[in-house]
Parts: sequence; C-alpha cells; structure tokens
Amino acid sequence: MALALDIQGLYKMYKGGWSPALDGMDISVRENQLLGLLGPNGAGKSTTINILCGLVMPDKGTAKIFGKDCVADTVTVRSVIGVVPQQIALFGQLTAWENFRYFGRLYGLSNTQISERAGNLLKRLGLDTHADKRVGRYSGGMKRRANIIASLLHHPQMLILDEPTAGVDVQSRAMILDFLKEYNAQGKTIVYTSHLMEEAEQICDEVVIIDEGKFITKGAPKELIDNTPGCNRLEDVFLHYTGHSVRD
Ligand SMILES: Nc1ncnc2c1ncn2[C@@H]1O[C@H](COP(=O)(O)OP(=O)(O)OP(=O)(O)O)[C@@H](O)[C@H]1O
Ligand SMILES: [Mg+2]
Repeated sequence: MALALDIQGLYKMYKGGWSPALDGMDISVRENQLLGLLGPNGAGKSTTINILCGLVMPDKGTAKIFGKDCVADTVTVRSVIGVVPQQIALFGQLTAWENFRYFGRLYGLSNTQISERAGNLLKRLGLDTHADKRVGRYSGGMKRRANIIASLLHHPQMLILDEPTAGVDVQSRAMILDFLKEYNAQGKTIVYTSHLMEEAEQICDEVVIIDEGKFITKGAPKELIDNTPGCNRLEDVFLHYTGHSVRD
C-alpha cells in the first residue's frame, strides 16, 4: 500500500537549543493506518508534527505526505491534512460557530458547506447544544472536541493530532477515541500522539516509539509486547526502549 507519510532523516536544531530536537528521524505510515507516535517529553513529537504542517522548517531531511513534500509543497499538503495542535488553536472570544465559519472560509468552503459539515460534527462530538457559546468558556474536553471539528471541516485525508486526550475527562476521552476509530474506518489515515500507553494499546494498529529526536522502534502493540522480553503491556515496552530517567 502507498505511504501516507514518509519522513526520512529529519534534523532540526532550534536556535539556542542544547541538542537537536530531531536527529535523523525516520517514520513511515501506510495509508489508512491509525498510528500512535509515542515518546517521552522532549522526544520530538510536536516538532515533527509542526514540520508536517509547515510551521517549523527542518534543517535537513525530507517529509512527504501522500508523496507531496511538506516544505516545498506546503499548500497542497495543508489541503489534505487536518491538524489538531498540542495547544488549543481556536479563538476563545468567539463562539464555536464563529470559529468554524472563520476556519471554514480559510479553506474556501461556502457557508452552506460549513453549516452542514460543522453541524454534523457538532452532533457527533456532543457539542451541538453549546455551539453558540464562547469557546473560552468551554471545559478542556469541549475545547479539544471543538478543535477536532475545526481541523476536519475540509474533509482531510489524513488527521494529525498532538495529544488530543491530554487533560480531558474519561467521557470526553472515550468520545474522542471512538470518533478517531470511526474516522479511520472511513479510509482516513490518523497519526496521533499520547502519553497514555494503555490508550494507544487500545486504539492503534501500529505505534512508533521515538526518543531524543530519533526513531526507536515500530510495530503493532501486541507484536511489540510479544517480541520484547518481560513485557506484558505497551507501557513495559515503552520503558524498555526509553528507560526510567525523567526528561528535564
Ligand atoms: N521553539 C522551540 N525553541 C527551542 N527549543 C524547542 C522549541 N520547541 C521545542 N524545543 C525543544 O525541542 C525538543 C523537542 O521538543 P518537542 O516539543 O518536539 O517534544 P515533544 O515530544 O512534543 O514533547 P512533549 O511530550 O513534552 O510535548 C525539546 O528539547 C524542546 O525543549
Ligand atoms: Mg509535544
């Protein structure tokens, strides 16, 4: 099957950084995978995602989405991906509807398209009765779900989410995870990051473990658990490869 995401030798040193954020990162994702990108704090997950959507320029290496280069062809790449960043990227002083109209127009959608698409997603993600409220007053889980809606208005073929379940309650998390599985079942590719190993074990068909800006290993959760001595859970595998020392 064709590669949805093909990252080769990505290197990024931020100005004033102590060490490279990415140090020869290689990641490949097949079409229609639901892939978990796992790594300790500072491993380079967000830097990788920010390069994919054109927010950060790599120093070396290549990143391609459906064959299009994320640096040279940012506009095309942005049209086929939806990105939910680690920090909520919505206007807090605007209502959800106002946010969706704004982002929908940026994607060149008509008001009718925005109303129909956002309306369906608001219902699916349990926000239809809150759509006229200011996003700044939403709970953490509501903000995450609203941000997911904003990233999907242009019907992207690939959805990239940076810690979409961080700081959300059990109910919101279950709704988000069910939704991701459902979107994936419609033939879409999903790459998402999380620090919750149990969650990744539950929903991902494959996970990639990275650390210190480098690829470490990849596989189906069960396959990684079975093939790593003394491991019964994905968390054991993660600790086996990334160690126990904290990343300060
Ligand atoms: N804008 C920046 N300027 C300087 N250094 C940065 C910047 N953004 C990230 N870094 C550094 O780059 C490294 C990788 O950071 P990144 O945010 O990509 O990691 P992460 O895997 O997303 O971590 P987390 O799990 O904490 O979100 C870290 O050492 C971080 O301190
Ligand atoms: Mg991050």
